[in-house]
Amino acid sequence: MASKRKVRVAVIGCGVISDLHLRCFSRNADAEVVAVCDLVESRAVAASEKAPGARWSTDAAGVFAAADVDAVSICTDHASHAALACAALDAGKHVLCEKSLARCASDLSKMVSCAGRHPELVAAGVFQHRFEPLPRVLKGLVAGGAFGDILTATGSLHCFRSADYFRNDAWRGTKAGEGGSVLINQAIHYFDLLLWIAGGAEAAKAFGANIGHRGVIETEDTIGIALKMKSGAVGSFAATSASERKWASRLAFHGTKGSVVLENDKLGFLSFSDARAEKRVRAKIEKALDAAAKVFPAGKAYYGNGHQAQIDDFVKAVKTGGKPFVSFADAAETDAMVFAAYASAARRR
Ligand SMILES: NC(=O)c1ccc[n+]([C@@H]2O[C@H](COP(=O)([O-])OP(=O)(O)OC[C@H]3O[C@@H](n4cnc5c(N)ncnc54)[C@H](O)[C@@H]3O)[C@@H](O)[C@H]2O)c1
Repeated sequence: MASKRKVRVAVIGCGVISDLHLRCFSRNADAEVVAVCDLVESRAVAASEKAPGARWSTDAAGVFAAADVDAVSICTDHASHAALACAALDAGKHVLCEKSLARCASDLSKMVSCAGRHPELVAAGVFQHRFEPLPRVLKGLVAGGAFGDILTATGSLHCFRSADYFRNDAWRGTKAGEGGSVLINQAIHYFDLLLWIAGGAEAAKAFGANIGHRGVIETEDTIGIALKMKSGAVGSFAATSASERKWASRLAFHGTKGSVVLENDKLGFLSFSDARAEKRVRAKIEKALDAAAKVFPAGKAYYGNGHQAQIDDFVKAVKTGGKPFVSFADAAETDAMVFAAYASAARRR
């Protein structure tokens, strides 16, 4: 049953991504940000100034105990996600948690179990690109067999992160703080889309390397992964944060009837053996792109524009008692393959 009251939200962690969360919640007529929290007082105070009426705090436990908070949005480093999310759920709060849901496999399993113990609460993981029209229409087309049986699903992200980027925040590029580097942070969005559109993976084998950030980070800046898809297809994914390209993504799905390639989130290539099938699929994709142009304003290219849609979905799930589009369990399927890839790469060192 839908509640008439606004969903009262607290944003935990007031660093880079919190601005976008504050903006998206403020644009949702059914939500209001009532509290912001960061271990660093000046960050919490600065965030409260961007969220009129919100109080600030440096103590997440106090925020979770507050009766006037219905939901929390976790925007902290990866290592803190599990403890914060489980404490919030155990305190009766709905949770939206930024990617990567967890820093390691054991944190992931704690989070999924905790969400399972609280079916009355919404536990959602941020994978905002799943809300964009092009990935959504492609997922439907792949699932409906438009491309025939998928043979290969391949993806890549080539991007650049400077030494200062890693040095400015102690958690980045560390096993303990981030859980890895380019795969679990920048590339996870494209890795997620690859797996989600292709219907999921059941095994991952990987090689990792640190080529461009030696002496700067302890985790990988470059990785190559071979994937066994649940559908029987084979997959691969490669990523680096030491590229001369600032941000270049590619996803390709090749099937027995047709193939599609996305480059930088746009349609790059479409090919079918049957010209009429190609025309039909192209029309569906173009319709999705038109919808995207209307619904999604231009945003920071590498975040994509899905945060608003994901936050709206979260608020709606809380208000109606419904299911979020990306639950902890859904997001965990991708995280599990991230950790399988890391475990495999560690065995090959
Ligand atoms: N979805 C996306 O496109 C996207 C983009 C950027 C970042 N992120 C994710 O958002 C999260 C945060 O990233 P960021 O770049 O904003 O990091 P950041 O380092 O800029 O900010 C994190 C903040 O969390 C605070 N914090 C840590 N532990 C806390 C605790 N226990 N209580 C309160 N505050 C705490 C830190 O003091 C810091 O200010 C990460 O999971 C990251 O991967 C997602």
